[in-house]
Amino acid sequence: MKSFKGSKILITGASSGIGAALACEFATRGASLYLAARNIARLEEVKSRCESLGAQAQVFSVDMASETSIEAFASEVTQLGLLFDVIVLNAGISQRALTFDTDIAVDRKVMETNFFGPVFLTKMLASQIRGSRPVKLAVTTSISGLFGFPLRSAYCASKHALFGFFESLETENPNVRVTFLIPGRINTPISKSALHGDGRSHDAMDQGQANGMDAAACAKVAVRAIARGRHRKLIGRGELIMVYIKKLCPWLFFKIAGRISAT
Ligand SMILES: NC(=O)c1ccc[n+]([C@@H]2O[C@H](COP(=O)([O-])OP(=O)(O)OC[C@H]3O[C@@H](n4cnc5c(N)ncnc54)[C@H](OP(=O)(O)O)[C@@H]3O)[C@@H](O)[C@H]2O)c1
Repeated sequence: MKSFKGSKILITGASSGIGAALACEFATRGASLYLAARNIARLEEVKSRCESLGAQAQVFSVDMASETSIEAFASEVTQLGLLFDVIVLNAGISQRALTFDTDIAVDRKVMETNFFGPVFLTKMLASQIRGSRPVKLAVTTSISGLFGFPLRSAYCASKHALFGFFESLETENPNVRVTFLIPGRINTPISKSALHGDGRSHDAMDQGQANGMDAAACAKVAVRAIARGRHRKLIGRGELIMVYIKKLCPWLFFKIAGRISAT
């Protein structure tokens, strides 16, 4: 097991699900954690869990859908003189609505949170990412970033876009290693905060989500991939078959994708 002793790790979306599990996994490996999200009470709970595992942790408020908030967060970490060894861009929201039933405002909200937020934060931290110091960026996309899926048009678009942006960034910056974390279905509350077409929260734990891989198991696989500097890591169980079907047998993908339960 690779140690992260002495490493400073920033995780966005650390208040819940995969981000919280990643924080605990890095904590067991000796890292110092910098935990960011909107819900400070939940971040404090994750911080306590990290501390009980022997790690140092600090919480930060950031709304990844707001440039003003990201700017304030970036200037706070810069003033504190924090230089991160690993930046995990993990915060995200999902969608549960048909394409033509989704207001453009919801398309934009999903793109702001899942795509422009990570892009803007990366630019705001450019002074510590550019140069010769080795930096690892871990970007949580999704298998929905590798194919289209019903009720997820904005979500799929945001997750596809991350690949193009961060792969390009890596080709320009030899000191940066990007690891795309590509989860299938993980047991987290993400379906609860997923947006309907009118902007309401779905507010339900979907069966597909509840039956997903355990978040702690997902985090173990993810941290190992980051440690090894893997470019891409698929994480999940049987649902990952869809990635291979899309790649190797696209006609079959289009036959079955619309028939799989999207909830
Ligand atoms: N669970 C899955 O099956 C699955 C599959 C593929 C990919 N993913 C991806 O994994 C990542 C984590 O999701 P999860 O499953 O762990 O869901 P989750 O339990 O709902 O966690 C989402 C995290 O993102 C944060 N977040 C959401 N909107 C934010 C905003 N505007 N500003 C700052 N933070 C925000 C939330 O924190 P606050 O609410 O406190 O701000 C929370 O910490 C997401 O990018 C998701 O797309 C999940």
